[in-house]
Amino acid sequence: MGEVEPAFIQDPQQRPKLSIIQAEGIPIIDLSPITNHTLLNPSSVEGLVKEIGSACKEWGFFQVTNHGVPLSLRQRIEEASRLFFAQSLEEKRKYRRDEISPTGYYETEHTKNVRDWKEVFDFQAKDPTFIPLTSDEHDDRLTHWTNLSPQYPPHFRDIIQEYIQEMEKLCFKLLELIALSLGLEAKRFEEFFMKDQTSFIRLNHYPPCPYPHLALGVGRHKDPGALTILAQDEVEGLEVKRKADQEWIRVKPTPHAYIINIGDIVQVWSNDAYESVEHRVVVNSEKERFSIPFFFFPAHDTEVRPVEELINEQNPSKFRPYKWGKFLVHRMNSNFKKQNEENIQIYDYKIA
Ligand code: OGA
Ligand code: NI
Repeated sequence: MGEVEPAFIQDPQQRPKLSIIQAEGIPIIDLSPITNHTLLNPSSVEGLVKEIGSACKEWGFFQVTNHGVPLSLRQRIEEASRLFFAQSLEEKRKYRRDEISPTGYYETEHTKNVRDWKEVFDFQAKDPTFIPLTSDEHDDRLTHWTNLSPQYPPHFRDIIQEYIQEMEKLCFKLLELIALSLGLEAKRFEEFFMKDQTSFIRLNHYPPCPYPHLALGVGRHKDPGALTILAQDEVEGLEVKRKADQEWIRVKPTPHAYIINIGDIVQVWSNDAYESVEHRVVVNSEKERFSIPFFFFPAHDTEVRPVEELINEQNPSKFRPYKWGKFLVHRMNSNFKKQNEENIQIYDYKIA
């Protein structure tokens, strides 16, 4: 991690407790009823839809098994990620992101004045990815982001692209199940991702940290998009805030499973029926940890708002509509400025 300072968390309340609560944990859902079926038959997936619905309600997080993503591909991307991060800092910095092209390699960032203990490589699902030039609502200009392509390890780009295709497939399936669980048409949300989605994949490396009681790999946050699919390795570290009692619950790695969480967009679409849940990553003094989240983000011009079918006089809309691309650019700009204040949140669109 180069010459990084210890990441002291000033507020003792925010420091990770090293005693672990490893309760039954988040639900594990077997996706075999839909794996290898492109068309969902609502009656045959009824049980699955119920399971997903209650997982979204009670946890905002679940794990999936029999998800259809080839294990060999997952192993290839995990290996590629290890090889990439094992290079010298100098080599990795050749693929460093900047404000113009915010995908690629970077070291730790500030989150609310705390340095996350990690290094990252980001790669957009669509190359180029179209995005508003500024967060100003009246500015229609667009820009685009393109990916950086490290020479090493061999076939890095091909492996990532192949893996992204699998992630997209799984996201579309999960989104159908979520739509059904809300009583909507299966394909209700598909249109927002058909053209120009802004999704990306992130390779995370959390090096061992000598101050695990004082630092976090990723500080507490919610994911802003629609869905996140996370591959974590056998070194645990992800913690989820349990809705029932607000305790941090460690997510025990299940080999080959994926961890799914719904993001802020699903919360808005569902008009708060499902909530996007806070999570964080703790670090380990001995072991390094790798993870690979895929963030499923809609097209920049998507207007995010509670779906009409779910709102009525008894359940009025709880959010003002917002443009996804503007929201994304706004958040990104404040990340780069490393402001100490909280980033823009869907809460800012909440109708009082
Ligand atoms: C994230 C995240 C979890 C992990 O990057 O948003 O929550 O285990 N990552 O790396
Ligand atoms: Ni996250």
